[in-house]
Amino acid sequence: NACRFGRRLLQTQAGSASDWQLQTAIAFDIDGVLVKGKRTLDQGRRALAMLNGDNRLNKKIPFVLMTNGGGVSEATKAADISKRLQTEIRADQVVLAHSPMQSLVKQYGDKHVLVVGGIKRRCADIARAYGFTDVSTPNDLVHWQPSLWPFMRPPANDQLSAVPGRDYAMHPFHAVMVFYDSFDFGRDLQVVTDVLRSKDATAGNDFVDRQVVPLFMSNEDLVFSNDYSQPRFGQGAYHVCLRAMWHALTNGAPLEYTRFGKPHQVQYRYSEQLLDRMAMAAVPGIDLASMRAGRCIYAIGDNPAADIAGANGAGWSSVLVRTGVFRGPPGSNDAANPATMVVDHVEDAVSWILETEA
Ligand code: G3P
Ligand code: MG
Repeated sequence: NACRFGRRLLQTQAGSASDWQLQTAIAFDIDGVLVKGKRTLDQGRRALAMLNGDNRLNKKIPFVLMTNGGGVSEATKAADISKRLQTEIRADQVVLAHSPMQSLVKQYGDKHVLVVGGIKRRCADIARAYGFTDVSTPNDLVHWQPSLWPFMRPPANDQLSAVPGRDYAMHPFHAVMVFYDSFDFGRDLQVVTDVLRSKDATAGNDFVDRQVVPLFMSNEDLVFSNDYSQPRFGQGAYHVCLRAMWHALTNGAPLEYTRFGKPHQVQYRYSEQLLDRMAMAAVPGIDLASMRAGRCIYAIGDNPAADIAGANGAGWSSVLVRTGVFRGPPGSNDAANPATMVVDHVEDAVSWILETEA
């Protein structure tokens, strides 16, 4: 990557003929950078407005939104952020924590999977749109046998996702996929540990002290930033609880799981593919290898452990802002995951990138 190894400014077909500056690209984090819960940051609106060519380079800059959030489709997230930031963002510019989990369709597309997280059956619907054909959720299991988790009212029909009347004692799972934050930690700790340690991979037939079903989880963020005064529990908080319960229930058997989401590199490769496609659409016939060799991708984020660690690992340039999880005083950087640059907010981040690239 050009950020790590020094710039080779290549005159590709993307040169003067194009409206685009393709050797620069930006990946924006969403929560704590562009928005804070229900509040939209004005600096976010101005930052995105700078990428449409109205800037010191007089060129458009390709960008993606790369969030550890999810629980909605890429198209829904794109529409929501477009409206809030008063700009047009397409679904193929959005990388959610669970977007790269589409790659699991090859292996599990026709297998029965448990999809965890979010409200109602929204994550099950997203999984089906990705190509998973046999999806159940914790609500389906509680509906099947309310005593499985007696601390909630049995879910209504509009909360259910799977075939009505399915007998889960007879229907094994092939994978558990946590797509998004659990909206009921207690229930989802019970359901997920039930499935992982049922001898026959069902939901509660004879427990064993080992993991029977593979587990995939989409976002390790312990905390994230919304409009509350202090950071809030993220999906990573559920992982901590799940590991603790697993160890307590199984006499310390290992819990293995495949991680998606920032800072994991699968997310960065996925974003690079979207940026490559944008370059190909901007300049048909572009020499992709040369473009990639000369391109520096900048990640702008608020969470050092996710956004900055991942970008540094990918050989991207990283810009840390002070509007979210990171609370260091002006002039400081994160000690564990230092960013290439630290600024107050996303508008300053984009200005710094454009100066660096000019
Ligand atoms: O639940 C979302 C949160 O963990 C992080 O979102 O946009 O800051 O990556 P984002
Ligand atoms: Mg963030």
